[in-house]
Amino acid sequence: MDQSPLRERITDQFSYPGERADIWRAFDLLLETDAFLNLGYSEWYQPHVVGSSQRRLVTEVGARLASYLPATDGVRLLDVGCGRGGPAIHLADQFGFRVTGLDLVPYNITRATENARRKHVKPEFVVGDSTQLPFTTDSFTACTAIDALVYLPDRNSVFAAVADVLELAGVFVLSDLMMQSDMSETERAFVDSFAATWDMPSVGTVEQYNAALDDAGFELEAVEDITRHSVGQFRKWTTLYLQLLRTPVRSLLVRLLRAYDLDPSAITEQVRAAHHALPFLQHVIIVAKTRFRRHLHKLREYRGLASAFERSTDDWNDLRDGLQSRVIDEFESLVVPEYLVGVAIQVTTASDSVPCRREYVVGDTHGALPADVLEEPELATWLQYPCNLGERSIETGDGAEHE
Ligand SMILES: C[S@@+](CC[C@H](N)C(=O)[O-])C[C@H]1O[C@@H](n2cnc3c(N)ncnc32)[C@H](O)[C@@H]1O
Repeated sequence: MDQSPLRERITDQFSYPGERADIWRAFDLLLETDAFLNLGYSEWYQPHVVGSSQRRLVTEVGARLASYLPATDGVRLLDVGCGRGGPAIHLADQFGFRVTGLDLVPYNITRATENARRKHVKPEFVVGDSTQLPFTTDSFTACTAIDALVYLPDRNSVFAAVADVLELAGVFVLSDLMMQSDMSETERAFVDSFAATWDMPSVGTVEQYNAALDDAGFELEAVEDITRHSVGQFRKWTTLYLQLLRTPVRSLLVRLLRAYDLDPSAITEQVRAAHHALPFLQHVIIVAKTRFRRHLHKLREYRGLASAFERSTDDWNDLRDGLQSRVIDEFESLVVPEYLVGVAIQVTTASDSVPCRREYVVGDTHGALPADVLEEPELATWLQYPCNLGERSIETGDGAEHE
């Protein structure tokens, strides 16, 4: 998909007075769209269309994030697709996160900056594209994306970009509008037409999100369907709006919208498309963690290195020294502050004509390796003997251990 027209359409949708911005300006009569643009969250007894449902969704996202972190105060958090800053400000205010908000649309960032100026918490806001994040590796401990990724044509590249700027074991919480799996062609056509009308290029299924997260090196922690707290309630409002259009109240409604300088036909087109698609849409929160992606990547390289040593030699010392110096050279680039993970090299050699399997471990953690490192299936076989840098553990083919 050509991204420039999409970019223009999204900018148009979220910038006053874009053609598609009218729907958001209409919502502004009921909701806090000066600061929040998400789908909101409500318990059954709470009114969804008035007041702070959108702030409540941010509280839900923040609470899930907090439950995966030892602390939140001062923790660096990136909010991608931050909109008009309400979520970033609320996350900073309520949880103490040090937030950077990023959004494609300059108008949103201007409003976010103004909104923050009025508060004592001061998130930073930048204009940018979520697929090309202007931050260095390991800049953040946590990331949120609240109902924003559905506007991106390519989820894979945004997940890869987020994985890059998150530090090891960083937590990513996203909420988004998704579609049900296994829809009929007619149902799919309703969703497609809704997506086109709202300029949402990638309404995906939960399975597609999960697969894309996995590809980007995230480990899935939780998936939660919150449809009944938001979009599950929307149809009564779209029904009411469309029914009113069929009654004498129509002219009053049209006049009212025009009085607010809103285009009734543009709004009606979007409401109607949403009405038909809503039964097949879901609102989902996903929690994922970046784990050991660099280690795994590096370990694959080491595995290649190890295979280079799979040869017979009678001179174990030479082999060990050569191996150690090469591994230690490489090791420098593997250092990760929290978990300084060692490298296990498996060497097949022959000593006294007896083929041996040797586990050579170079590496250290600043203490014991965390249990979850050891549980990583790919690491488990490689990091059996955490020990200090330079120490080694050698297992011979007969099961004996030598130093
Ligand atoms: C529905 S709004 C949600 C805003 C905000 N997360 C909130 O909860 O209020 C979606 C946001 O995603 C932004 N967006 C769309 N495409 C983007 C991209 N490629 N990079 C960054 N932001 C993007 C839009 O400008 C918009 O502000």
